[in-house]
Amino acid sequence: MSKLTATAVANPNIAFIKYWGNRDNSLRLPANGSISMNLGGLNTQTCITFTPQLTADTLSLNGTPAAGKSLSRMTAFLDILRELSGSRLFASVTTENGFPTGAGIASSASAYAALATAASSALGLKLDEAGLSRLARRGSGSACRSIPGGFVEWRMGHTDADSYAVSIAPPEHWNLVDLVAVVQSQRKPVGSSEGHSLAGTSPLQQGRLAGAGARLDTCRNAILQRDFDALAQVVEADSNLMHAVMMTSRPALFYWQPESLAIMKLVPSWRRSGLPVCYTLDAGPNVHLLCLSESAEGLRQRLSAIPGVSQVLLAHPGGPAHLAEDCSLV
Ligand code: PMV
Repeated sequence: MSKLTATAVANPNIAFIKYWGNRDNSLRLPANGSISMNLGGLNTQTCITFTPQLTADTLSLNGTPAAGKSLSRMTAFLDILRELSGSRLFASVTTENGFPTGAGIASSASAYAALATAASSALGLKLDEAGLSRLARRGSGSACRSIPGGFVEWRMGHTDADSYAVSIAPPEHWNLVDLVAVVQSQRKPVGSSEGHSLAGTSPLQQGRLAGAGARLDTCRNAILQRDFDALAQVVEADSNLMHAVMMTSRPALFYWQPESLAIMKLVPSWRRSGLPVCYTLDAGPNVHLLCLSESAEGLRQRLSAIPGVSQVLLAHPGGPAHLAEDCSLV
């Protein structure tokens, strides 16, 4: 009999080649493969206890009891685990993010990677990395990429069984840094689950998908060869393509704020002046700047001086999701 309780820690990730749109919304089977880097040091810690004393799942998110959509989404996810394990117990879940929730720092990725790791262990399910990644994918697509460590590729696969993420290089492979310029830390108005279901309404989505395989190859090779220039070109192009799809879906989604665009216009000029740096944005207004670690401090200062940038987070390539000894949350 398993202990029915476990704690896990996972990093969010930043997509270099974006996932936007599903072939199957309920199984979260993506319309294209994607590549990302785990954001070391930006942690989500999740503690879970399954107990016969509960009549429903409970969730405490950053110290506040959660209800509504966040709770029902978590319950739907735990139902998958209950079905896999044969358990009928409800769970109490406590989770804390060490970074702003819901503003393009993919908190759902670290949340569901940590929850999949903790909940499967608490229920005594022995899942390997691919199994955990498949499971995390059901909670949030990008969460499957927060299970393996370092630089990660989600191979889109054809079915639930073969759609999961693998590490293509460990964290120490390349001293890249992600500087996150936070321009807004409130929740975004349209979440990514809803956004994915709108992707197909954009006339640009087919064009984006048609070139995704080539961009994945370019990005994977750039990482393996530590070729920053090649990475910069493909990362910016892929981010712009995803946002073009968002802006042309019906209804249109605009995630950028004026400050986001101001930074996006500066970065290529910094690159032309010799700094290895490029930008990418997920479904939110915060701008992620990828650079080499030797340029990080100077760039952090430049970013902090831009009006509207409230803080700059810094992350090195992070490791895999993992179990922790004890829950340090109350
Ligand atoms: O995993 P979701 O449903 O939160 O989707 C993430 C979508 C993007 O962050 C915009 C892109 C990506 O690949 O992470």
